[in-house]
Amino acid sequence: MSDTEAFEARLEADIAATGDEAALEAIRLAELGKKGRISEMLKGLGKMSPEERREAGPRLNGLRDRVQAAIAKRREQLADVAIAARLAAERVDVTLPVRPSPAARGRIHPISQVIDEITAIFADMGFAIAEGPDIETDYYNFTALNFPEGHPAREMHDTFFLKANAAGNRKVLRTHTSPVQIRTMESQKPPIRIVIPGKTYRQDSDATHSPMFHQVEGLVVDKTANVANMKWVLEEFCKTFFEVPSLNMRFRPSFFPFTEPSLELDIQCDRSKPGEVRFGEGSDWMEILGCGMVHPNVLRSGGLDPDEYQGFAWGMGIDRLAMLKYGMPDLRAFFDADIRWLEHYGFRPLDMPTLFGGLST
Ligand code: DAH
Repeated sequence: MSDTEAFEARLEADIAATGDEAALEAIRLAELGKKGRISEMLKGLGKMSPEERREAGPRLNGLRDRVQAAIAKRREQLADVAIAARLAAERVDVTLPVRPSPAARGRIHPISQVIDEITAIFADMGFAIAEGPDIETDYYNFTALNFPEGHPAREMHDTFFLKANAAGNRKVLRTHTSPVQIRTMESQKPPIRIVIPGKTYRQDSDATHSPMFHQVEGLVVDKTANVANMKWVLEEFCKTFFEVPSLNMRFRPSFFPFTEPSLELDIQCDRSKPGEVRFGEGSDWMEILGCGMVHPNVLRSGGLDPDEYQGFAWGMGIDRLAMLKYGMPDLRAFFDADIRWLEHYGFRPLDMPTLFGGLST
């Protein structure tokens, strides 16, 4: 074997042994680059005698062409190997079971669910939703709602007070959603038909009371709103919410500073089985909410003339409604953030409560 043949054989073995593009490129530069070995040999042709050149020319040019071809071939092979490796690494096993999406794994808290149910029912009756701040002034929480200064009803609310400001005024964590009645009357003209869901606060804590709880308030103000309208609205609400075709109700006289007359609404239920309440049947009664005709002083606080306008209002505890409807015995579990409890009592995010699709299904 000639020197050139031996050189070519070694080189082809080296090329065939390269493992990646960079190693191959290094060989190409070392042999065929400007200062490469084969390039230098070719440069030597110019200094040869014509006889020498006749033999060396085809030999070296052939060498260059074959080495070039070997490099190109190896480059193609390496590209094929790289693509095969990538395909193997990025292989997706389409037979693996799908992991549940966040929308399927997450749960809607029963309180959020019940707020959605309640607002769906009242929205269907033409009510709008109103909201107000959790931190209220004494004026909106009490005075404007016809609680006179020093009236014992203020004490009954077990109010959380904030630190007094320089002028000596203490803000409160609102004890009920009723202040939003005043804020709404101040900001929009009758007819007013609103429901007000939100957080409320009182210093109270046991299995059925929590210092932070939720209420939904309702307010209707126009020129003719009356007790009969109120009775219909509340009856429709209770039937739809508890998902029963009919329901007996009874109103009992009560007292709230902001309504006159004031009433409490009880609904018919069956409590004969321990730990279970069924609505729309039985001979027991369950208190559901407070309500009444808006007191003239409250209309005045809202900037309305009680000789021209009248209204009715009601307020109810959302947490308690949720406990009753979904059979949860202890209110405190609502706020424990226990994932197992939520898995059990929570609702699927995509099952939005609607009247046409079903409230709780
Ligand atoms: N604000 C009352 C409470 O927290 C509930 C209530 C009763 C609201 C009667 C009303 C109403 O609007 O008319 O106990």
